[in-house]
Amino acid sequence: MTGASTGIGEATAIRLSREPGAELVLVARREERLRELAESLPCRATYLAVDLTGEDAPERIRQHLENEHGGELHLLVNNAGASWRAGFAEGGYANVHRHMELNFDAAVRLTEALLPLLRASAPSAIVNVASTAGRVSRARTGSYSASKFALIGWSDSLYAEEQPHGVHIGLVLPGFIQTEGFPATELREKALTRWIVSKPPKVAEAIFECGPGRKAERYVPRPYALAAHSRILFPALTRRVLSGGAASSLTTSTGGDGADDPGSG
Ligand SMILES: NC(=O)c1ccc[n+]([C@@H]2O[C@H](COP(=O)([O-])OP(=O)(O)OC[C@H]3O[C@@H](n4cnc5c(N)ncnc54)[C@H](OP(=O)(O)O)[C@@H]3O)[C@@H](O)[C@H]2O)c1
Repeated sequence: MTGASTGIGEATAIRLSREPGAELVLVARREERLRELAESLPCRATYLAVDLTGEDAPERIRQHLENEHGGELHLLVNNAGASWRAGFAEGGYANVHRHMELNFDAAVRLTEALLPLLRASAPSAIVNVASTAGRVSRARTGSYSASKFALIGWSDSLYAEEQPHGVHIGLVLPGFIQTEGFPATELREKALTRWIVSKPPKVAEAIFECGPGRKAERYVPRPYALAAHSRILFPALTRRVLSGGAASSLTTSTGGDGADDPGSG
């Protein structure tokens, strides 16, 4: 479980810990938070504080699984991620690169390192936490959307490839979920938009459905699927709506804004 120190990852760890025989490995950078969470869970849980963008991160996690859990792995949740809002003219390639490095490359690299364990432990599953922003792009979220579009495209291919090996690939696409990294303050402040913001336990349930439950894909909350469908069915209308002034309130500020360290929230 990556990104387990807060938000959706923390809620998912709590959800998974209720399953009989569950054993969890919690991964993120903030060790103290991981330790506190591990100690509070009703199942065996170990943790590893690691920056997933680091060169040696996948190998360190693989070794931890071998040493602490006998190399058995039934579920990998690629959940860690962040967003730094910026238009392309301001953020440039540097902002695209840092999104890809964490939201896409880190998930791919970790999956590469752990796929042999997942195949050996099959039936097993990988859940990739993408975003509705991986289907529909808004102004100032282009770098984030690019990383999530990439994650979705790669996940669909991996789904087909790993089926014969008993490794299921599930895709979860959250909408606005109130967390440390994505507080959605602008939306929660207004009565008109408050209702579209959901909570991490809802995503945790979807991750459970798409992992152990072997469902292929889930939007959370479910009506966010309409945004994805409208992008395909009514592209001109969707583009017009998302380019209009009212759409700016949909580009909420994030924990990564104004900080080099997204985790500093
Ligand atoms: N909340 C939303 O509205 C929303 C919507 C769609 C998709 N999502 C996706 O859901 C996932 C979880 O987001 P969240 O809302 O739960 O955000 P969050 O509360 O900010 O959690 C992000 C998690 O990722 C970890 N992380 C960040 N950078 C890392 C790094 N370099 N190495 C290791 N771990 C790192 C953070 O832990 P440390 O800081 O301790 O490292 C934290 O545990 C992300 O992939 C996000 O893109 C969220």
